Amino acid sequence: MPTVYLNGQILPLEEARIPVMDRGFLFGDGVYEVIPVYSRRPFRLREHLARLQSSLDGIRLGNPHTPEEWEDLIGQIVARAESEDQGVYLQVTRGAGPRDHAFPKVVRPTVFILPLILTPPAPEWVERGVAVITAPDNRWLRCDIKATALLPNVLLRQLSVDAGCTETLLLRDGFLAEGSASNVFVVRDGLLLAPPKSNLMLPGVTYDVVLELARAQGIDHALRPISEAELRSAAEVWITSSTKEVLAVTTLDGQPVADGRPGPLFRRMHAAYQDYKHTVMRGKVRNE
Ligand code: PDD
Repeated sequence: MPTVYLNGQILPLEEARIPVMDRGFLFGDGVYEVIPVYSRRPFRLREHLARLQSSLDGIRLGNPHTPEEWEDLIGQIVARAESEDQGVYLQVTRGAGPRDHAFPKVVRPTVFILPLILTPPAPEWVERGVAVITAPDNRWLRCDIKATALLPNVLLRQLSVDAGCTETLLLRDGFLAEGSASNVFVVRDGLLLAPPKSNLMLPGVTYDVVLELARAQGIDHALRPISEAELRSAAEVWITSSTKEVLAVTTLDGQPVADGRPGPLFRRMHAAYQDYKHTVMRGKVRNE
């Protein structure tokens, strides 16, 4: 039974309880983070905590903890977790109150930290790539907030499950935004492309790692809007997230991407990402 943190207490998951009037439950009024943990080191913790701060700012909820307190709380859950490599899920909601859309007068946020079993992408996914579908992006205009209100993402992701695929890539006004739970990169003419950060996508921590590695590897890259036509005629398409790391997309809406196999730039980036991850795990490079 995992050990979790809830509002000042460390306790077994089965004993963790929140009031039914919690606004996270009633309205999805909260934000969250998913942080991979390798060798009991939370990966890029500072970036995840910075994004948590901007999500909290985005929903006008004060941060209940300083970064040092977060680090300590997360450390306590990581230390008690069963495995060395895992993940941490954390969630902050606007707490309990009367059922009224307007914020309660006195807000006592609910803070929950849960260890997650994090299985690295299956070797065959890395070898063969994954199949995805596309769908119109029908989410709101603050996709940069990592909100727990994930119903649109849930429905969009389920479309790909129903189609036997791994992810749903989202198109808005003829341009690529991101995946239902990942960011997206495209390779065209040897150039690595990604949509620039905006209110239309989550600023992925893995997205930043991939761009840093591209810089370090001397891979030409540019951030600019990617049209649907450019996505469909790309030489390579990748998805990135804390749980999927970097994966090649080899089938898009039933059509092969280029020759239908993971491309050479993906192989380079995947190797660089694994190297980087292992170096971080050994504590040899910056992990923030
Ligand atoms: N999701 N875009 C969306 C909509 C996401 O939900 C995620 C991650 C990402 C990638 O962000 P990062 O690289 O920081 O993980 C992009 C997490 C893993 C989740 O909801 O489980």
